[in-house]
Amino acid sequence: MNNQQATSSGVSVIGLGAMGSGIARTLIEKGFTVSVWNRSRSKVDALVASGAIGCDEPVDALNANTHVIVCVSDYAVWNRIIQEHNLASHFQDRCIIQLTTGTIDDVQNHALSIHDNGGRLVEGAIMCYPRNLGTDEAALLLSGEPDVLDECGAILGALDAKWTSLGEDINQPSVLSRSLMSGLTGALMGLVNGAAICRAGGVPLDVFMKFNEGTNSILLAEQKRLIEAIRDGRTEENEASIKAWREGNQALNSVAASLGTDLTLQNAIQEVFQEGHRKGLDEHDLSALVDVFDPGQ
Ligand SMILES: NC(=O)c1ccc[n+]([C@@H]2O[C@H](COP(=O)([O-])OP(=O)(O)OC[C@H]3O[C@@H](n4cnc5c(N)ncnc54)[C@H](OP(=O)(O)O)[C@@H]3O)[C@@H](O)[C@H]2O)c1
Repeated sequence: MNNQQATSSGVSVIGLGAMGSGIARTLIEKGFTVSVWNRSRSKVDALVASGAIGCDEPVDALNANTHVIVCVSDYAVWNRIIQEHNLASHFQDRCIIQLTTGTIDDVQNHALSIHDNGGRLVEGAIMCYPRNLGTDEAALLLSGEPDVLDECGAILGALDAKWTSLGEDINQPSVLSRSLMSGLTGALMGLVNGAAICRAGGVPLDVFMKFNEGTNSILLAEQKRLIEAIRDGRTEENEASIKAWREGNQALNSVAASLGTDLTLQNAIQEVFQEGHRKGLDEHDLSALVDVFDPGQ
């Protein structure tokens, strides 16, 4: 397929991995005419079987529609596709909806390249699984100029009816999505570490799960309290001081060491507590560790 005229009713998707395929499928289900390109042809063929229009080259996907969603592994991959297929000159009058996960440098360099070549840009991050797209569990974090976000409203709304605009600062989706990842990764790695300690210490994992479920409501309330304390500058008030937390983590280290489980995660956490101690935060709330993580403030 070559040099098709752009249509305003359709949308193109470049990159058909787990997420790009989920995006394309959701848009087809919501009634869009979807043109797709992917490096491996088999994924194009699978989408064509679901009603998409297959493109032989990425430039065909760019030419097929004014609005083009990009969702590949990372920006290095997308930049390579741009170079190898000479796509830059085809950005003119195109609106690129970039949903690839990227760094701040990636995002900024890409924005320059799109704008220098006459294109418009929506920068986004996806905070859900492909199966959540088009449902209440979908979570798209987006930034861009208001009129560009507006013109993409129907496409974005099909993927996430309550999509969030973070304003014009294109760094914000990366910053917010990675910050949320920090919370998730920390909590889930801690949980797996706990399961390892239970397994090594002979505590049945069903028992671990039962008591872990009991801590979930405490965790939710604690997360809210910590963020509010940091926001409001109330990081001294506490029911449990940083010193108490540090001693608790030290006891955890001793138990784990006796059982022979790996100490990498706990040692890293202990180092954060030690830095809090060096900064004189021993009697402060856990939220005061924000100044260890962000010493520039
Ligand atoms: N999956 C999720 O749950 C999820 C959730 C949130 C955000 N995301 C983000 O969505 C983006 C895509 O993730 P994914 O899960 O769809 O990844 P994936 O399943 O690994 O798919 C990667 C995509 O990138 C393409 N690609 C990789 N290397 C390439 C190259 N050298 N040249 C051309 N194309 C290349 C792949 O093409 P081939 O098929 O030819 O290999 C495929 O289309 C990532 O930035 C990820 O962080 C994913």
